[in-house]
Amino acid sequence: MCGIVGYVGQRPVQNLLLHGLQQLEYRGYDSAGVSVLSDGDIRSVRAVGKLQNLVDAVEERQPAVATIERPATTGIGHTRWATHGRVNEENAHPHFDTADSVHVVVNGIVENYLALKNRLQDMGAEFTSETDAEVIAHLIAHHLATGDLVEAVRLAYNDLEGHFSFVAMHKDEPELLVGARLECPLIVGVGDGERFLASAVPAFLEHTNRVQFVENGELVAIRPDSTTFMLPDGTPVEREETQLDWDQETAQKGGFETFMLKEIHEQPDAIAETIADRTVRETGVDFGGEFDEDILRNAKRIVIVACGTSYHAGLIGRYAMTEWARMPVAVDIASEYRYSNPVVGPGDVVIGITQSGETADTLAAMRLAQEQGATVLAVTNIMGSQATRDSDGVVYTRAGLEVGVAATKTFICQVAVMYLLALRLAELRGTLEPERLASLVGQLKQLPSTLSELIERLDGAEGQSTGIADKHGRDNFFLFLGRHVGLPVALEGALKLKEISYIPSDAYAAGEMKHGPIALLDEKTPVIVCATDSPVLDKVVSNMQEVRARGAHVIAVATEGNLDIGEHAEEVIRVPKTDWMLQPILAIVPLQMIAYAIARSRGLDIDQPRNLAKTVTVE
Ligand code: F6R
Repeated sequence: MCGIVGYVGQRPVQNLLLHGLQQLEYRGYDSAGVSVLSDGDIRSVRAVGKLQNLVDAVEERQPAVATIERPATTGIGHTRWATHGRVNEENAHPHFDTADSVHVVVNGIVENYLALKNRLQDMGAEFTSETDAEVIAHLIAHHLATGDLVEAVRLAYNDLEGHFSFVAMHKDEPELLVGARLECPLIVGVGDGERFLASAVPAFLEHTNRVQFVENGELVAIRPDSTTFMLPDGTPVEREETQLDWDQETAQKGGFETFMLKEIHEQPDAIAETIADRTVRETGVDFGGEFDEDILRNAKRIVIVACGTSYHAGLIGRYAMTEWARMPVAVDIASEYRYSNPVVGPGDVVIGITQSGETADTLAAMRLAQEQGATVLAVTNIMGSQATRDSDGVVYTRAGLEVGVAATKTFICQVAVMYLLALRLAELRGTLEPERLASLVGQLKQLPSTLSELIERLDGAEGQSTGIADKHGRDNFFLFLGRHVGLPVALEGALKLKEISYIPSDAYAAGEMKHGPIALLDEKTPVIVCATDSPVLDKVVSNMQEVRARGAHVIAVATEGNLDIGEHAEEVIRVPKTDWMLQPILAIVPLQMIAYAIARSRGLDIDQPRNLAKTVTVE
């Protein structure tokens, strides 16, 4: 949550910061601000609401920011997702100390801020916001009495508790930014004669793809020509540079009206990338030494922990691993698991699924399991993310950068990784006949092209999802139903609709409906049912009849060729045939598109839905 960016170099910094923030807006968009430093003077502009308000404010107050003798070449910026303190200009970052000489931008939470604030106020500090973050500026100012900015940040860091990353700047240190990281991400972008410091790579990708990762519990000082890393006790640390193979193109909309739509369309390529070299062998799956396969070989039990959409991918993983590898598998929501005093230890393989690799609850659940002797495997989309460091092995989803707050392509790639792991487990455990294994691998390889045809067919103004949006876009409630692997599809479909259209919706195991939610149904209720071919389809059809008996309107997602379904639904959306266990990868697409079409018909901000943030680094 919150995006931070900093720059030191030769170029005018103001627009660099604003562009950087634009790329980070997905992390929070309650308010934004920049501070730039020139000739011993720090100028700051902050604005409530979307980044555009800040851009307008900067424009309006241009004399305050840019018309200084030399354009500033050092600065910091922030886009906020509010935790402590209301959404107003005073609580927007950057925050500053009483003398207005230290400015900071902060991502995360300072847990002991009240105690620190009281202490600093007793010593004369004057606070201007309700945030926890402001305390960092005053604390650094306090420690400046005994050292330079680097030392003051180090001392301040040692006083702080919580999970955060921050970047600080001092008016008398024109070519220096000092950052620190405890849990929340911070990455250095390395250019020629310039350095960036940001929460995520897209903030500076336009300028450089050379990065240095700040590790958890480290501090960093950037100057135009150098980066210095150190531990909280002052010990210097050497850090290699990594060259990323991302380009700026991926961070742009590429002609689509939103990132979400672009990312829905990227799903065939994303899944093709994810399975590519891992399915070259016809009769099995190869991870090519990406992680130590003894992890799978020695597993006695699998526990999957994740949040939100990633949790839904985990549920599909459980069905696949249970069915194909005959493996005991538990799946839990990470925020529940971490406080459940779980029985976990040696022999258990805990798989943490996290697109961002930074979700606080998932990381905590993974760490807890590791501390108790379990082996931890991370499934993530982000190279170098914290999950990759807090695990014994990593499987990347290779979906490419996802900017839309509602996860789409990363979800289907997570599901694909679940299938790959389940097939590899089955192979190692000898639980699938070679012919069945080969058939599943073959069908997995077909998915990119089938997915492509499906998206083409469903897309566009004349598409079925637009028709459904026209008919139901103003309804007050949607129910989603499914069984077996259809259940996570229903859960994910309902989540997409909630997130971007704000329509209350619920997802239920179809067989559970009669134990309560059936009371919600009346003639007006649209009920979206995942009714793709599977061994439990007959049961699903019975549930559809129960729904229709209450007069509700059934929209079924069904497998092409199954003509009977039409008799049990008002509307049927067809998806191509594949193995029943693989159906979720296809069945989720119409649900993504229905949510999209409804949100669009309501004129909502699809890429940045209210109250959400792409990366949830607070618990
Ligand atoms: C929903 C969505 C969220 C994330 C969740 C976990 O569209 O994106 O529910 O899935 O916040 O995030 P990661 O996967 O980054 O741990």
